[in-house]
Amino acid sequence: MPTFDLIVRGGSVATAVDVMRADIAIADGKVAAIGHDLGDARAVVDAGGRLVTPGGVDSHCHIEQLSAMGVTNADTFETATASAALGGTTTVIPFACQHKGDDLSAIVRDYHALAGRGAIVDYALHLIVTDPTPATLTEQLPALVKAGHGSIKIFMTYDAMKVDDEQVLDILLVARQLGAMVCAHAENHGMIKWMVQRLLDRGYTAPKYHAVSHPRGSEAEAFNRLIAMSELIDQPIMIFHVSTAEGAATIHAARGRGVKVFAETCPQYLFLTAEDLDKPGMEGAKWCCSPPPRAASDIEALWQALARGDLQTVTSDHAPFSYDEKGKFANGPNPTFKQIPNGMPGLQARMPLMFDAIVSQGRMDVTDFVRITATAPAQLYNLADRKGSIAISKDADLVVWDTEREVTLTDDLMADATGYTPYVGRTVKGWPETVVRRGEVIVADGALTGRAGSGEFLPRGGGKAAEPTGRTAAEFDPARNFGAVLL
Ligand code: URP
Ligand code: ZN
Ligand code: ZN
Repeated sequence: MPTFDLIVRGGSVATAVDVMRADIAIADGKVAAIGHDLGDARAVVDAGGRLVTPGGVDSHCHIEQLSAMGVTNADTFETATASAALGGTTTVIPFACQHKGDDLSAIVRDYHALAGRGAIVDYALHLIVTDPTPATLTEQLPALVKAGHGSIKIFMTYDAMKVDDEQVLDILLVARQLGAMVCAHAENHGMIKWMVQRLLDRGYTAPKYHAVSHPRGSEAEAFNRLIAMSELIDQPIMIFHVSTAEGAATIHAARGRGVKVFAETCPQYLFLTAEDLDKPGMEGAKWCCSPPPRAASDIEALWQALARGDLQTVTSDHAPFSYDEKGKFANGPNPTFKQIPNGMPGLQARMPLMFDAIVSQGRMDVTDFVRITATAPAQLYNLADRKGSIAISKDADLVVWDTEREVTLTDDLMADATGYTPYVGRTVKGWPETVVRRGEVIVADGALTGRAGSGEFLPRGGGKAAEPTGRTAAEFDPARNFGAVLL
């Protein structure tokens, strides 16, 4: 009788701190042993000459979600997580999205039903709060966080989604009381709205003006405001999809004075620029996302911020809309830039793009690749007891990389339902050959073997990252913040 279910044999195993030659033995979905000559297993994956990393954790992606514009994402949980798996991601954190007037608990139940039916990789859920009524804040959020949804997301822009500053403060305070993380889409709504109107009034309607309509300063302004509110409450925050050098500098300054602010960027801000929106006809619609891709100088600033640790993770912000009347053209064949649903697919491309840039092209070390794509997001969202690393008794979520394989990204290669990739034509070196999720091979030789519905929900509280700093006084002190908030 073999001792183990599976052994991944002969690879170089990378974690966020080390690279070592080792075999990995798996039993009951967990890593049971790491070493040499580990004995027998029912199955063996030959990783000789390959690199083995933890399965990716993509902590920001939109799946089967109704957008701010009322258009539903192209994907189902099955197609989205098939593409995640093929790209080497074994855990996703999409959203249960409350629209104004919605009962948040009912919405969460709906997303659980969709995910339970379709997910191929494991998943947690962030709670999007757009309507912080007393019932949402004092009844539903406490119950939902207790049930394992330890992060709340807010929008500071989009007419249909945004919460105002007083509501942000209410949500931060409730999150503090519940021990939950607060994530934010932070852009200055008024600046964007004003720019949009001026552009449209003057007939600037093409997709490329979407980038112009989100002034660079609208990001840093909203970051500063959110950080000030986070300091007032002493509630940690996670700033989503940082796109500008000024935004990154704002986060650097806040972290430097001890504010517990975390941040992410996305491949669209590391590999694309506003010029990608400037295509003939409506083609640029494929690259319309918010915030928009910026300039080459921002790309460099964001890589530096990643290297410094001011940005801790790179997520896909997968927000897929097909290039047809169901998606990008849901508002007609010739929409203005403002009528184009915002977002682009990225679940499958995220890990290969980051592997190519960091490992193959040598921007950083392979340990940095693991930290940025798996370990840090697992820690930030309180999944690290099971996810994000290769260690005894953690879930056996592994990617076996063919480090020499060069692949040119094409629309057809992508398994999600969007029908296009914004990275079309880009060649990456390094490709996920085998993907293991909780000990089960879900991608073999680059082909999907995982079953819809086999992904598991990962309940979690807010964890360490969401804990207040304690820097502000808990007792009332007129010269300081937090005691006053408690009054
Ligand atoms: O353009 C984007 N990123 N759309 C998705 C929704 C969001 O802003 O997170
Ligand atoms: Zn966003
Ligand atoms: Zn998003």
